[in-house]
Amino acid sequence: MTKIDVLLGLQWGDEGKGKIVDVLTPRYDVIARFQGGPNAGHTLEFNGMKHVLHIIPSGIFHEDKINLIGNGVLIEPRIFRQEIDELTAKGVDATRNLVVSKKAHLILPSHRMMDAANEQAKGNAKIGSTLKGIGPAYTDKIARTGLRVGDMLAEDFIERYGQLKRQHLLMARAMGFDVEQFRIDGMTLGEYEQVWMESLATLKRFRFVNSEYFINRCLQEDKKVLAEGAQAMMLDIDFGTYPFVTSSNTITAGVCTGLGVAPSTIGKVMGITKAYCTRVGAGPFPTELFDETGSRLCELGHEYGATTGRPRRCGWIDLPALRYACMINGVTELYVTKPDVMNDFETVNMCTAYEIEGQKTDEIPFEYNTVEIAPLLTPYKGWQQSLAGITEYNALPANLKNYLAAIEEQTGVRIAAVSISPDRKDVLFK
Ligand code: GDP
Ligand code: IMO
Ligand code: MG
Repeated sequence: MTKIDVLLGLQWGDEGKGKIVDVLTPRYDVIARFQGGPNAGHTLEFNGMKHVLHIIPSGIFHEDKINLIGNGVLIEPRIFRQEIDELTAKGVDATRNLVVSKKAHLILPSHRMMDAANEQAKGNAKIGSTLKGIGPAYTDKIARTGLRVGDMLAEDFIERYGQLKRQHLLMARAMGFDVEQFRIDGMTLGEYEQVWMESLATLKRFRFVNSEYFINRCLQEDKKVLAEGAQAMMLDIDFGTYPFVTSSNTITAGVCTGLGVAPSTIGKVMGITKAYCTRVGAGPFPTELFDETGSRLCELGHEYGATTGRPRRCGWIDLPALRYACMINGVTELYVTKPDVMNDFETVNMCTAYEIEGQKTDEIPFEYNTVEIAPLLTPYKGWQQSLAGITEYNALPANLKNYLAAIEEQTGVRIAAVSISPDRKDVLFK
């Protein structure tokens, strides 16, 4: 029996998970998503082409590998269809290597409406949700009113769909939300519903499985399985910067509930961090830079959301948050991405501790959202050279290796590899 390896983000998302999964896929037989949904945007680049995946696992471009959408994932059928159509246009026939859990929940058009209604009701305190319906769909899952992939095949599906939709309409109207003015991609709720219903046919072309048996059988047959995380540690519903988080467990523990595997089956836990830090949407971000350096990171790093196009907030790497992430997730190895973005920087700063009300701490306090946190920065000499063409870890500039060694020392976790460009080929294993 093999163990299931896990790959997840250690910051606030967009660490380069999609890219690293794509690079690691040749070592695995199955790539499985265990949580999140179309709020994710995972970018892959190879052969001069860029691909962005939202619901589909990042192993999909490897024809001989199975990709599983697990029970913990949310599927929005129209977004799923769009992804499938894009893959088909690129010559990828996903029906051959993608399987879907019958227990994965569906995002309805009215979940997306409720997402917008909730955000509107929050006013200035809004989370900056991706408006894909994530919060409301997980709410219905927990409330035991949700609809699952397997339910699509039941006779009373349309009836149950109608019931749930009516409930959402009642709630939205009671919140003073203007349902008639609401649009998804320029469509009214009714128009979108029609496209959504048509999209179910695409979803039904795929093999639906009892994924908990599927995945455990894979492990028993000594197949190698990689669990692909979406979002990241600091957006976790329990341990992230609540309420400025997503609505799922993005952490290693989420693999157990999102796929149906026992804790004892967890193998390696690979954590990804950028060499700096970004966040999209609202919420605390102690190392955020509001100056020219922040704008430089945004421009040089092309830090615009892969799902929403929103500019990402940028700042220095945050070691208290990273240590917290390593602790909660049991990270066994680190992957560091995007140091190349700081190639021209004279100095690269690292936040090694926080100062809160005059006290130095390296813990994430409960009051993270409400107290003023001053990041205590340690400066490192920049490497001030291009990394293009470097093919070995040891050939990286000494100042960069020094910076990476400091990350290892601060977290107590070894670095397995460094990524130095968006392309699949530029990952240097140590
Ligand atoms: P994910 O959500 O964690 O999969 O990450 P995203 O795809 O949302 O964002 C990561 C962005 O950084 C994408 O545009 C990637 O193409 C890009 N990227 C990944 N690794 C590197 C790297 O090492 N260097 C540079 N410059 N860009 C990278
Ligand atoms: P990947 O997988 C970055 C953020 C949103 C918002 C909060 C809640 O690409 O790293 P939601 O739509 O989940 O209710 O939004 O979480 N968020 C992400 N930020 N990367 C993501 O995914 C994200 N998914 C959600 O911006 O602040
Ligand atoms: Mg992303």
